[in-house]
Amino acid sequence: PVPGSLVIAVDGTSGSGKSSASRGVADRLGLRYLDTGAMFRAMTWWLLREGVDVRDGVAVAAVAGRPRIESGTDPLAPTITVDGVDVSVEIRGDEVNAAVSPVSAVPEVRTRLLELQREAIGDGGIVVEGRDIGSVVWPQAEVKVYLSADPAARAQRRTAEQGGTDVASTEQSLLERDRIDSGRATAPLVMADGAVHVDSTHLTLEQVIDRLTELAHEAEARE
Ligand code: DC
Repeated sequence: PVPGSLVIAVDGTSGSGKSSASRGVADRLGLRYLDTGAMFRAMTWWLLREGVDVRDGVAVAAVAGRPRIESGTDPLAPTITVDGVDVSVEIRGDEVNAAVSPVSAVPEVRTRLLELQREAIGDGGIVVEGRDIGSVVWPQAEVKVYLSADPAARAQRRTAEQGGTDVASTEQSLLERDRIDSGRATAPLVMADGAVHVDSTHLTLEQVIDRLTELAHEAEARE
């Protein structure tokens, strides 16, 4: 690619360490960072606030075009706003966690956010994390990574991140989201064509970032 135009797509299950690794590699390489999960969470937060029944796909589809969702792409300080209000904290709560997968399965939600995601990627120079980046959003990405980890390891990390103690219930909630995200009809979580599988179960964050950096350098050398 033209220097600075690299796109790194990082897909994987909930809690596989995608966010930390994606932000880390973006920071190291001087790239921007886009958290597409935060966009689905922001949409979900807005629907809940508006009192829309998030299990009613028709009702969700009817209003999916309404909220103005904007993502800041600084890997050291990512932001997400809905109609100008910063919702970075609110979108990590239990209510959004429980509702985000069904909302993400609604095709009209995906179409709307896809447009915003492609706009944000623009001329590249960005690390983009999600579930369908390498398969649907940006199949032409120079680097595609599928990040996974054993459920127990993911639940441990997520629980620690949230300052909680109930690892078992965190694991249940992660597995439930995996089930819906992988089983939906539109843009399910899959390993994209050409993706490199990185299993982070036994790797430190630094080691995962090293591996992604290596893949980025290899991609740049190929061009
Ligand atoms: O990465 P995360 O846990 O913040 O993502 C939250 C939810 O958003 C996830 O359960 C599925 C959905 N999602 C999606 O469907 N497609 C993406 N590209 C990113 C997230």
